[in-house]
Amino acid sequence: PRILVLHGPNLNLLGQREPHIYGATTLDDINQSLQGLAAELDVEVLTFQSNHEGALIDRLHAARLDGTRYIVINPAAYTHTSVALRDAIGATDLPFIEVHLSNVYRREPFRHHSYFSDLATAVISGCGAHGYLLALRHAVVDLGNRKN
Ligand code: DQA
Repeated sequence: PRILVLHGPNLNLLGQREPHIYGATTLDDINQSLQGLAAELDVEVLTFQSNHEGALIDRLHAARLDGTRYIVINPAAYTHTSVALRDAIGATDLPFIEVHLSNVYRREPFRHHSYFSDLATAVISGCGAHGYLLALRHAVVDLGNRKN
């Protein structure tokens, strides 16, 4: 099965950006470890990062037609602002897991609201880069359960 991992704005700067909050791991490191786990779990993982809301929306529209079965998404700042991205993921009708590197609930109040969480299968926040691997593992288990 094909699983899409979407990374929102500023996540291309991981490793350089506020490392006390987001850690030293780069986005390439994260994508490489996801590919390693994908091989182990025998699933296909496609990754996509954009700083542009419309590009993320277009990628979600493409996911409706390209055989994607599950989505892992860190919408980054769009978590707290984007009805448009929420509607795009809703339009896929695909199950998804919302990931945040930081524990957003330990941070500013404006980060406590998400436009995604009430649609998500699960939310992982505060596990750093490992959160993506947890999400991928759970996506594969959840997909298996849905078949039965
Ligand atoms: C983030 C948390 C968001 O509040 C923030 O805007 C980000 C990253 C995280 O992964 O912890 O850019 O989604």
